[in-house]
Amino acid sequence: MCGIVGFTGNKPASPILLDGLEKLEYRGYDSAGIAVLNDNKIKTAKTTERIRNLFEKTDNGKTVPGSIGIGHTRWATHGGPSTTNAHPHLSGDAKFAVVHNGIIENYVELKEELISEGVEFASETDTEVVPRLLEKYYKGDLLDAVCQVVKKLDGSFALGIICTDYPETLVAAKKFSPLIIGKGKGENYIASDVTALISHTRDVVYLEDDTVAVLTKNDINLYDYNKNEVAVKVSHINWDIAAAEKGGYDYFMMKEMCEEPRAIRQTIEPRIKDGEVVLEDISLDKEALRKINRISIVACGSAYHAGIVGKYVMEEMLRIPVDVDLASEYRYRNPITDSKTLTIIISQSGETADTLAALNEAKQRGSRVLSIVNVVGSSIAKASDDVIYTWAGPEIAVATTKGYTTQLSVLYLFAIWAAKTLGTVDDKTLSEITNSLKNVPNAIDRVLDQKDKIREMAKHSVDSQSLFFIGRNIDYAVSLEASLKLKEISYIHSEAYAAGELKHGTISLIEEGRTVIALACQTDLYDKMLSNIKEVRARGAYVVACANEGETGVAAEAEEVIYIPRVHKFLRAAVEIIPFQLYAYYVAELKGLDIDKPRNLAKSVTVE
Ligand code: F6R
Repeated sequence: MCGIVGFTGNKPASPILLDGLEKLEYRGYDSAGIAVLNDNKIKTAKTTERIRNLFEKTDNGKTVPGSIGIGHTRWATHGGPSTTNAHPHLSGDAKFAVVHNGIIENYVELKEELISEGVEFASETDTEVVPRLLEKYYKGDLLDAVCQVVKKLDGSFALGIICTDYPETLVAAKKFSPLIIGKGKGENYIASDVTALISHTRDVVYLEDDTVAVLTKNDINLYDYNKNEVAVKVSHINWDIAAAEKGGYDYFMMKEMCEEPRAIRQTIEPRIKDGEVVLEDISLDKEALRKINRISIVACGSAYHAGIVGKYVMEEMLRIPVDVDLASEYRYRNPITDSKTLTIIISQSGETADTLAALNEAKQRGSRVLSIVNVVGSSIAKASDDVIYTWAGPEIAVATTKGYTTQLSVLYLFAIWAAKTLGTVDDKTLSEITNSLKNVPNAIDRVLDQKDKIREMAKHSVDSQSLFFIGRNIDYAVSLEASLKLKEISYIHSEAYAAGELKHGTISLIEEGRTVIALACQTDLYDKMLSNIKEVRARGAYVVACANEGETGVAAEAEEVIYIPRVHKFLRAAVEIIPFQLYAYYVAELKGLDIDKPRNLAKSVTVE
C-alpha cells in the first residue's frame, strides 16, 4: 500500500528518493512520484509504470536537482491510477508539495468548502485537500499551518510536506498510518518503513499518532497539534541490509521461504531455556492467565489462518474456548468481550488497518490484548498490552511465508507456556512438544530439499481453472492458507474445504480431471481422510496428497504424494504448509507472473 520517503541533507535528494521508493515497491503500488525543492521552486516527476521508469525519465534523478524532497508510491483508492492522481500533490501557488498515505475520510466536505471559495482541484484524490488547505492557512509559519490543517482531517494519514519558503525543512505528520524518521549525520529522512532507510541509517524515531515532525538536515523536532514540543526517542534497528535485499534469488518469496528454518530458530530458540518455554517479553502472569476464560484471536488473511491453527492447538492444550475472527468483521459486529477474555492479535506488518481497529475495539471493551507482530515499533505493537515479536526479519514479498510460519511458532510457544502455567498438560508431554518444536526448522529444511519434485508436480496445475484443497482439523486450517497462497500469486481459483463437509454440497463440483489437494497429516484422522480421498477420486479427481513420512498407504489412493517429516501433531502446520508455498510459487513462476508483486495486492494494508 502507499509508501512515503523524504530526505533533507546535503546530497542530491532524487537518487535517494528513487532508491527508497524502489525499496518500498513491495508494498504494492500503481503509480509513483517525487517532488524536489531547488532554487525556490518545486519540481515533480511522476509515472504510472515501475519506479525504474522514474529513474529513466529523470536520468537517475539528475533532471530533478535539489537536496530536499519527498517521494511516494500510490495504491489507488480515490481516483484511478494516473499521473494526475499520483503524488506528490501541489498547492495552487506551487508553494507546497505533499505526499500522503491513508484515507482522509472527510475530504468531500473539505473539498466542497474549498471549491466554494474558488479553489480548483487538479486530481480526484482525497490527498489534494491537504496542500490546498496548507495554502489557505499558511501565514508565514509552516508548523502553524500544518498544525491547523491536521486538526481538520478525519481518518488516517502519514504526511510528508515541503514548502518553498523553507528550503531545508521537511515536515511530517502521522495519525494511524505508519511513518518513521531516519536520523542520519547531517541528513534526516522519513519513510513508511525501515526497508527504505536501512541503507542510510539504523537510528530511527517511531513517530507517535497525532504528532508533527519538523526535520532539517541537523535537527529533528516533534510537536503535538498545539505546537507543544514532544520528546524525541531514537531507537536502533538490528535488521541488516542483506536481509532486505534479494541476495541472488529470483524473487523475495523464494528467498523468504528458504529463510523459514532460520526465522523459526530465531523466534523460538531464545525463548526455550533448559527445555522450558520462557516468555520474558510479556507481563501476563499466572494469576492473570488463570482469570482468562476465553481467548479471542483476531487477524486478517494469512495471519487469520495462523489463528485458526492456534485455535485447534490451544483448545486441545488449554481447554479454554478459542474464537477466531476476521478483523474486518470483528470491528463492525458489536463483539462480546471483557476483562476475562484474552484477545490475541496477529499481524506481520503491525499496521493492518482493520486489525488495528479491532484491537482498539477489544481494548475499549475491557479485554487484555496480546499481539504477535513482526515489525518492531509498529502501531499494533504499540497499542497492545503485551507483544510477542516474531523474529522473522523483513518480509518483502507480498505473499507471506516466513511471516506465517513464525506466527505459528509464537502461537505454539504461547500454547506450551500457557499449558505449563495452567497445568493443563503433563510435563512429559510438554517436554515432547517442546523438543519437537526445536526440530521444526530441520523438518522444514527437508521439505525445502524437495523443491525440484514440487516444481515438477506444479506443472500439472499451470493450466487449471480451479482446484480444491481438503483436510480435517489442523490439516483444514493449513488448506485455507495453501489455497490463499495459490490464489494470490498464481491467479488460479481454488477453494479450501473441510474434507467432511464436501459431501454437503461442494462435491458436485468434482469432475473428471479436477485437481484435489488432500492434506492427510493428522494421524488420528488419517483413515477418515483416506475415505474422503476415495470419494473424490471415484468422481474423477486428480489427487495430490500430503502425508507424514512412513504413511505410504496413501500412495495407492493418489496420483502424487508429498511426504513431510514427522513432528508433533500440534506443530505439523508449520511443516505442512511449506510444500504448498513452494507449489504456489512454482505455478506462478511457470505462468511467468510477477511473484513478489501480485496484481491488485499490497503488502501492508493500511486502509480499510
Ligand atoms: C497473504 C498475506 C495477507 C496478510 C494480511 C494481514 O499472503 O500476506 O493475507 O496476511 O494482509 O497482514 P498482516 O499480517 O501484516 O496484518
